[in-house]
Amino acid sequence: MQSDSPGRMSRRDPGYPGHHGGMYIGETGYIRFLRGWHSARGIHEENISAYAPRIFAGLFFAHSVRGVMTIKLQTSDGREREFVFTEENFKRICKLIYEHAGISLKPSKQHMVYSRLARRLRATGVNNFKDYLALLEDNDGTEWQAFVNSLTTNLTSFFREPHHFPILAEHVAGQRGKHKVVLWCSAASTGEEPYSMAMTLADTFGGFAPDISIIATDVDTSVLATADAGIYPVERVGKLSEAVIKRHFLMGTGKQSGFVRVRPELRAMITFMQVNLLNDVWPIRGPLDAIFCRNVMIYFDKATQLRILQRFAPLLQPDGLVFSGHSESLYNATHLFKSRGKTVYELADPGSRAYQQVKK
Ligand SMILES: C[S@@+](CC[C@H](N)C(=O)[O-])C[C@H]1O[C@@H](n2cnc3c(N)ncnc32)[C@H](O)[C@@H]1O
Repeated sequence: MQSDSPGRMSRRDPGYPGHHGGMYIGETGYIRFLRGWHSARGIHEENISAYAPRIFAGLFFAHSVRGVMTIKLQTSDGREREFVFTEENFKRICKLIYEHAGISLKPSKQHMVYSRLARRLRATGVNNFKDYLALLEDNDGTEWQAFVNSLTTNLTSFFREPHHFPILAEHVAGQRGKHKVVLWCSAASTGEEPYSMAMTLADTFGGFAPDISIIATDVDTSVLATADAGIYPVERVGKLSEAVIKRHFLMGTGKQSGFVRVRPELRAMITFMQVNLLNDVWPIRGPLDAIFCRNVMIYFDKATQLRILQRFAPLLQPDGLVFSGHSESLYNATHLFKSRGKTVYELADPGSRAYQQVKK
């Protein structure tokens, strides 16, 4: 391609990717005018139109950011895309996240995947998905974690599915004194769930209980960092009563105003660590009194769910409980677990050969 004047495109073949006069055409489908908006003003829409179809069959529009004009291309459904994202790229990503975290992505998640990983392309300075995937596989591991963190869905809240917490309190009350109570929150996200467990137990037993410990894990290191810090915007505790907030949180002042911090006594009940439920080895020692595994199984296929449930069973006390999410059921593991109602499960038959065999 030749440039007739600064920032002006000719109608000749652009031959992208690369630098072309006053602009850079990425293989990924974006055109960036390096000389800035003003020098690029001589570019007429008709000229751009000559290139756009070669790059991406779609519409385009321009905007100016810090003097650099970027043409973003739109997909046929009107979505704006800076990088070309092919079906092949999406399939490769689905395979990789399935292999690494067990997450099964549906075709409808294509746009979500694009927008989450586009941030990683920008952060790593890579300008197309093919190169990003190559970098991921050559990388020493740091980008793998960022890749996984980008593709997890971390929606959670304090006392989500509130019916579980009185059941937990009653169960732990029945176990306390018999042995040290150990609970595992296996998809802790940003921490609201394990802190809700801790608040429930602190309120049930009148304060911090040294004979109760909660292990809170997640595959995503960035949500774990938030959980570990225990600092939340006040809106996150908006649905809790004044009394609960006062008992369990400290109000931020000065630079911290608008934030609450979990009280250190509550924080001390929980150990946060990274655990990928897909890994062959978990650093979790039984016997556990309860496992919270809520709203994570929905991201796994049936075979993965079953493999995980088979490994939960031998970790439990004979009367231990599994708490699952509202849209999850353990029906494909009825030989191991039976329902106690309200998405709470117990071992189907702790004395059975099936359970004892898995336990070995
Ligand atoms: C939607 S959140 C659920 C959080 C919380 N359990 C709740 O119900 O509010 C799902 C969590 O599962 C985690 N997750 C996804 N795949 C995982 C895996 N293979 N191992 C462990 N955690 C995983 C995600 O990082 C995310 O934080």
